[in-house]
Amino acid sequence: MKPVKKFIIINGPNLNMLGIREPDIYGSLSLPEIIDYTEKKLAHRCELEWFQSNLEGEIVTRIQELVAQDFSALVINPGAYSHTSVAILDALHILKIPIIEVHLSNTHRREEFRQTKLTAKASTIIMEGLGKNAYFMAIESQLL
Ligand code: DQA
Repeated sequence: MKPVKKFIIINGPNLNMLGIREPDIYGSLSLPEIIDYTEKKLAHRCELEWFQSNLEGEIVTRIQELVAQDFSALVINPGAYSHTSVAILDALHILKIPIIEVHLSNTHRREEFRQTKLTAKASTIIMEGLGKNAYFMAIESQLL
């Protein structure tokens, strides 16, 4: 039997406010509800670990820890840090596993300042505009 693949999903600032935060853009589900939805969709075909922080340094530290851990891939929604954080980009560059950057909204349809994606420069795959399916589809892409 093949070993079960493990994935880590990192969410950046304000993603803990999903459901309350601009539901017309991000949908009505909270982060715990999206986690539940994603876990059910994947139906125990893999193991998921979820991490959310509003703090840039905590996200950098969690990414650094991945060097010594055996995850098959990292799924990251850096939130607004995607547009600003050289520190998160540098941390992502340390990793050797696939990195899938996701955004629930299609940022290409949004403000000019969202068009720069510093962190995406380290990503293997970028997925945008899938809403609550973003995390599920990102992990599914690694189970093909
Ligand atoms: C986001 C898009 C970012 O521009 C924004 O700052 C977020 C959420 C998304 O999932 O669509 O916090 O990453």
